[in-house]
Amino acid sequence: MSNVIFHAHPSRRLQGQLRVASDKSISHRSVILGSVANGKTRIENLLEGEDVLASIRAFQRMGVNIVQNIEERGPVYIIDGVGLNGLHAPGQHLYLGNSGTAFRLIAGLLASQQFASTLTGDDSLSKRPMSRIIEPLVQMGAIIHSADGTPPLSIEPGGELAGITFHPPVASAQVKSAVLLAGLKASGETRIIESVPTRDHTERMLAGFGYPISVTGTEVRLEGGHALTATHVDVPADLSSAAFFIVAALIVPDSRLQLNDVGINPRRSGILDILKRMGADIEIENTRWQGGEEVADLVVTTSELNGCEIHGGDVALAIDEIPVICIAAAAAKGITTIHGAEELRVKESDRIRAVAEGLSRLGIEVVEREDGMTIRGGEFRSAEIDSHADHRIAMAFSVAGMVAKGDVRIMNCRNVATSFPNYIEMANQSGMQITLE
Ligand code: S3P
Repeated sequence: MSNVIFHAHPSRRLQGQLRVASDKSISHRSVILGSVANGKTRIENLLEGEDVLASIRAFQRMGVNIVQNIEERGPVYIIDGVGLNGLHAPGQHLYLGNSGTAFRLIAGLLASQQFASTLTGDDSLSKRPMSRIIEPLVQMGAIIHSADGTPPLSIEPGGELAGITFHPPVASAQVKSAVLLAGLKASGETRIIESVPTRDHTERMLAGFGYPISVTGTEVRLEGGHALTATHVDVPADLSSAAFFIVAALIVPDSRLQLNDVGINPRRSGILDILKRMGADIEIENTRWQGGEEVADLVVTTSELNGCEIHGGDVALAIDEIPVICIAAAAAKGITTIHGAEELRVKESDRIRAVAEGLSRLGIEVVEREDGMTIRGGEFRSAEIDSHADHRIAMAFSVAGMVAKGDVRIMNCRNVATSFPNYIEMANQSGMQITLE
């Protein structure tokens, strides 16, 4: 099963309208907050990808009743929230698959619970750094063990948590969210001051669940001891999943593609700014609010792209889209330089390495550096690419295959199911040509 192979074939124009997979970050948070709210939370358009299903299973193991109902508009999830004091000891390890978000956010929430828990993950997750959450959680009073700062991670009961003022040393919404979720049951105030702004879905959704939270610029504050009240969440489409279609429509000649219902939260929309700087024609239409998040339809038309400079501040707002932005850069005229992207080395794979290696195989001139790379735009030749079992690397190189001189074969694509279970069907519906080997 691990060796799912995508075969991407050169394609003619992309056209029509699509609603890509639902937002992964918002889906995780709706499951987590719904589980510890008081009352029944209803979630429409939840992403049924493996990462979110791992979050659901974790809360079911802790005694939360979560059911899927099929309604006319599609599946709806109902979570019977148990309140912040109602979770049960899981009785077995909580396996969180490939998902750093599930792992770090759930660890933050469990740091204040009066039962023991152990969190584990797959091979990729087992290599990812967890000291970034362990350190602030221990500073709050949590008792956490990990052999070498990576999963598995054991949380012991008994730690009475107290709020802290925390200046995150890495730009990470997962770290910020872990500390905020620990703060829900901590005494006093938890205060986080970010030097680089990161996605703020946790803050917005806590407010949506009626939890008092104050946000001033990049400073977030909450007091422990309040309650969450069940609500209704309608999850928008994921800009990170739309990104593959945006870049494909920009680089495949004569395309015009509409992507509906996409979340355009300003802490996520760095990709739109970067691509526009490169010359992209992306219209943002029908902007509206949906549950505290801004949503729009994006109309993308084939454009002549030029290389550009991408800096650390851009990277935090486009953290998951850098691989596909590199494909756009490789198809653009001139040189693109990416700086301040060292966090990409500790994602589902070392994404700087994986992208540089894949682009070289496609015949593109690329110079890899510790914190990024320099790419000279050119033409893609036929190649075999290793996705390193990373969903975003697999999808990014499938986009390259649309404009290559021959077929691009991408190995190890199984994990596309973590964030975009029906990617191939949707890609082919839009005019991309990808087959499963
Ligand atoms: C996420 C935050 C990002 C992102 C991940 C989802 C989240 O990670 O890469 O895919 O939902 O909070 P970091 O915050 O660790 O950079």
